[in-house]
Amino acid sequence: MGSEYRARRTCLSVPASSERFLARARDLAVDEVMLDLEDSVAPGAKESARGLAVQALRDGGWQGRLVAVRVNGVTTPWAYQDVIAVVEGAPGAVDSLVLPKVSSPAAVIWLDVLLGQAEQAAGLPAGQIRIEAQIEDAAGLAAAEAIAAASPRLVSLVFGPADFMASVGMRSLTVGGQPEGYPFDAHHYPLLRILVAARAAGLQAIDGPYARIQDTDGLRRAAASVAALGYDGKWVLHPAQVDVVNEAFTPPADDYARAVRILQAYDRATSADGRGAVMLDGEMIDEASRKMALMIAAKGEAAGLPRPSPAAGQGEG
Ligand code: GLV
Ligand code: MG
Repeated sequence: MGSEYRARRTCLSVPASSERFLARARDLAVDEVMLDLEDSVAPGAKESARGLAVQALRDGGWQGRLVAVRVNGVTTPWAYQDVIAVVEGAPGAVDSLVLPKVSSPAAVIWLDVLLGQAEQAAGLPAGQIRIEAQIEDAAGLAAAEAIAAASPRLVSLVFGPADFMASVGMRSLTVGGQPEGYPFDAHHYPLLRILVAARAAGLQAIDGPYARIQDTDGLRRAAASVAALGYDGKWVLHPAQVDVVNEAFTPPADDYARAVRILQAYDRATSADGRGAVMLDGEMIDEASRKMALMIAAKGEAAGLPRPSPAAGQGEG
């Protein structure tokens, strides 16, 4: 993760069939707005939703947020037209397309090739539009590493808990919730597998939605737990979820300050003093500490935390 890291702490899924929700999305403090053409849009409304999404993209007004569109999956009759409509109808308006139900690298390669053609036709720079791949079934999870490496356009892997729970037969009817009767975290394995596959390919890892909108404590617990695991962000479905999820994925100010101090101390130690390991606040820090600190510093910076003031020499010894 470097200076190009963009925060995706909150990715708001908005049904593109609703003009009201599309309008309201512009006022929410989310890092990414995702106009959804897939599962939150009824089959009979797919084409009108596509038109509304293109219009919303043309209207703009996203105020620096990342803008994504979730197209329909590659086995549906809508997918290719979704892609063409968005890229040619609103050239340059989207940062990424979210591809759902990715069960093999072939789906990502299909989108990569189609985007290459659509970009040329729309006069856009090659490779500008990024891909976010949703892993949400057993086959997709089993192929997570190959999917993550399938295209240089990929920027994130996204866990889709609802489809995944259905795919493996998990006994629960709550999206993102835990099945009754299983004493551990039922999502731990897919979450960690997706995280490792994403990081192995240099991608972000994003958790999917938590559907119990009124259950703020449950959302806070779920978000804090995936943030601690290393995830970059989580989908949100409702304005009431935004602050809780932003907070969970923003590094605590103390962690950010310490990460910056580690980077400064390590830089001084290696460049000025020629040492590869140095004490900071009673802890030995070295190259591995620098990597851990870089990750937290990048997330803090991308989240817009105020840069801590330099603390020259503080705590060293
Ligand atoms: C999201 O797409 C999910 O299936 O949870
Ligand atoms: Mg899904």
